Amino acid sequence: MQTERLTHADTDRAAAILRAGGLVAFATETVYGLGADATDGQAVAKVFEAKGRPSFNPLIVHLSDPGDIARYADPVPGAERLAAAFWPGPLTLLLPVRPGGGLSSLVTAGLPTVALRVPAHPGAKALLSAFDGPVAAPSANRSGRISATRADHVLDGLDGRIDAVLDMGPCEVGVESTIVSLAGGEPTLARAGGLPVEAVEECLGRALVRATSPGTVVSPGQMLSHYAPRARVRLNAASPGPDELLLGFGPVADAALNLSPSGDLREAAANLFAHLHALDARADGRGIAVSPVPDHGLGLAINDRLRRAAAG
Ligand code: TXA
Ligand code: MG
Repeated sequence: MQTERLTHADTDRAAAILRAGGLVAFATETVYGLGADATDGQAVAKVFEAKGRPSFNPLIVHLSDPGDIARYADPVPGAERLAAAFWPGPLTLLLPVRPGGGLSSLVTAGLPTVALRVPAHPGAKALLSAFDGPVAAPSANRSGRISATRADHVLDGLDGRIDAVLDMGPCEVGVESTIVSLAGGEPTLARAGGLPVEAVEECLGRALVRATSPGTVVSPGQMLSHYAPRARVRLNAASPGPDELLLGFGPVADAALNLSPSGDLREAAANLFAHLHALDARADGRGIAVSPVPDHGLGLAINDRLRRAAAG
C-alpha cells in the first residue's frame, strides 16, 4: 500500500478515505492519531493490524461536537461538567457505553465503557466535521513504540501500512490526553496526560483516585504501552555516563538535547516524543540518560511516559 501525504487542503479527500473504510493519520493537539470510521468493524480491525496492537486494547472515539456525548455514552454525574470545561481539548472521558450507539464492538474491545474525546486541533476538527461521524483513533505509532508528534514520525512507523497521513505540523501539547474514568465508582485518573490533573480536580471539586492505587481498573493500554526507544533509557540522571546521551531538563550542562532549558513543563511535554525519536536515531548503541523532571502538572504525564520508556 502506498501512503499518501496530504495537507489541510486535502481534508475532504481524507474524509473520503475514512468513509471508504481506509486509515488516515491526523494531528491532534496531543499526538497524531490513526483514524478509522468507528462504526465500521473492518476499518477498525485494520487499525489494530497496522499498529500491531492487541485487539483487547480499546480505542478512543473522537467527536467533533461535545453534544454527541449522549449518542455514545449513558449520562453519569460529572461528565457534562468536565466536557463543558475542557472540550475541545486534551481530555478523554471513560463513560458507560450506550448500547445501540452504532460503534463497532472492536472499538470498546467488548468493555462496557467507551472512551470519548473532542480534540481542539483545527485540522482534527476540520477532518471530524468533514467526515461527520465518530472516528476511532489510537496514537499513530507502532504498538509499544514512541508516539508521533510529527507527520514524519508517523511515516517512520506506519509508511506503507496506512492509506494517508494528513501533515498538519507538530503537535502543540505533545503528550496524549488525560484519561478520567467516570464509568463507575469514584472518578479515577486512568492516565496522566496533556491536561494537568490539578485542573480536573479543581473542576470536580474533589481529588481523583489514581489508577495506580490498589483495586482500581487501569486502562488495558496502560499495562501494555512502553513508548520504547531502541536505546536503553536511564531516569533521574545527574549527568550522562560515557556511553550515554543526556536528555536534559532545566539548565544542565552536557545535554545532547534539552526538553526545556528554562525548566518549563509545557515546553518539555511538547518536545518529549520528538527528542526521544531524535536521540534514538543518533544513539548508535549508546543509552539515553534523562534529567529529573518535577512530578506535578504536565510533569506527571512526562514522568509516566519516561518510566515506560525506561521499562521497555
Ligand atoms: O491524546 C490521545 O489520547 C491520543 C490522540 C490520538 O487522541 N490517543 C491515544 O490513544 O493516546 P491510545 O490508543 O494510544 O491510548 C488510549 C488509551 C489506551 O491505554 C486504552 O487502553 C485506553 O485509552 N482506552 C480506550 N478505550 C478504553 C475503554 N473503553 N476502557 C478503558 N480504557 C480505554
Ligand atoms: Mg498510544
